[in-house]
Amino acid sequence: MAALVLIAINETGYNRSTQALEQIDDYSRTRNAVNRLLQHVLDAETGSRGYLLTGDPRYLEPYNAAVVEISQNLESLRASYPEEATESATLAQLTRNVQRKLAEMDLSVRMRKQGNEDAWKFVLMTDVGKEHMDAIRDQAGKLIQSATTGMVAAQQQVEQTLILSRVGIGVVALAALTAFYLYLRQSTRLKLAGEQQQRALQQERDLLESQVRERTASLAQLATHLQQVREEERGHLARELHDELGALLTAAKLDVARLKSKLAGQPPEIGQRLQHLTETLNSGIALKRRIIEDLRPSSLANLGLTAALEILAREFSERSGIEIATSLEDVALDDSGQLTVYRLVQESLTNVGKYAEATQIDISVHSYSNHVEVEIKDDGKGFDPQAVRPSTHGLAGMRHRVEAAGGRFAVASQLGAGTRVTAVLPKAPLAIAALT
Ligand SMILES: Nc1ncnc2c1ncn2[C@@H]1O[C@H](COP(=O)(O)OP(=O)(O)OP(=O)(O)O)[C@@H](O)[C@H]1O
Ligand SMILES: [Mg+2]
Repeated sequence: MAALVLIAINETGYNRSTQALEQIDDYSRTRNAVNRLLQHVLDAETGSRGYLLTGDPRYLEPYNAAVVEISQNLESLRASYPEEATESATLAQLTRNVQRKLAEMDLSVRMRKQGNEDAWKFVLMTDVGKEHMDAIRDQAGKLIQSATTGMVAAQQQVEQTLILSRVGIGVVALAALTAFYLYLRQSTRLKLAGEQQQRALQQERDLLESQVRERTASLAQLATHLQQVREEERGHLARELHDELGALLTAAKLDVARLKSKLAGQPPEIGQRLQHLTETLNSGIALKRRIIEDLRPSSLANLGLTAALEILAREFSERSGIEIATSLEDVALDDSGQLTVYRLVQESLTNVGKYAEATQIDISVHSYSNHVEVEIKDDGKGFDPQAVRPSTHGLAGMRHRVEAAGGRFAVASQLGAGTRVTAVLPKAPLAIAALT
């Protein structure tokens, strides 16, 4: 806006100044024309007087030239004044007086040419010529005066215009500078406020993030603790069942065997009953063994991971009727690492049995230089891992176990394309955990 106002002021100033300068030019031209007219009238008078006094025709040359110039001068002066101007009346009077003066001089010169001495001397003697000349001077002076006044007024107008544009440009520039300063101040304030807000937000975000990290860490710790407690409880229960219930059942079996030998030759019904009792006790012992095995796989402690997994796979295959192919390498993992692998395979098999409707399962355990890779793959109906309900804990528990041991866990599955569960476990989780 300021720039537009500046342009407007500048343009107006320029227009007014050029108008005034043109006027000055006009006035100056008019003044010069009046001066020239006066000069030519004087030239004509000098020429005519010279001729009258000497009779020398050479004086007639400047006289005649001046007469021609005078009529041209009058013509151009008439053109330079508009009709309604007050100067037009003065110019008309001046023209009349000049024409009278010319007529008077022409008469004298003509009489001198004709040799009419008395007549031209008479004309010369009268005051008519002087009166005409005075009037011409007076009217030319008026015209010059009015042109000078016009010039002064136009000059004043130029000065006024210059002052006005100077003040206008100054004021507008000052206003623009002030507005720019205010804008800068405002934008700096806004920027500062924005930065402050950003900082506050960042602080809040950092705080929330650290809170979330803390909560996640404590939840992970709790989950690890619960898993340990669960394993310990299961171990404790398995030991109790083994020691107490096992002792009771074995004692009962021994008693039955002793009774059997003592009751030889008794009615066959008693023998049958005792046989039935022995079988019941045997199935009780087998059930106890199965429960203990499920609680705490003794095969894992006694035979090692590979054999324990073979047994787990074989029993699952017999129970479910799904074919299982195993490719198991001996791996050097500590007890908790072995238990992690065992539980991983166990939960994966349970899931396959519950959901997959598979016909074939592949279990592989491979040992690499510093990590172990476990994979359980089925050809069942698959699922969308992104859409698993949060209320289920099998996969989440597996992931937690593996990650707590410093490993990586992944589930790859697609509807209709089977499922693959993989885990990579470091061979020395403690050393790796210490490094990270
Ligand atoms: N092998 C698989 N084939 C098809 N679907 C599977 C398979 N494994 C898991 N799923 C799907 O993933 C879901 C989550 O499994 P997850 O083991 O986490 O929970 P769950 O078995 O339903 O319950 P929980 O294990 O807690 O008793 C299952 O409900 C099932 O829909
Ligand atoms: Mg499950």
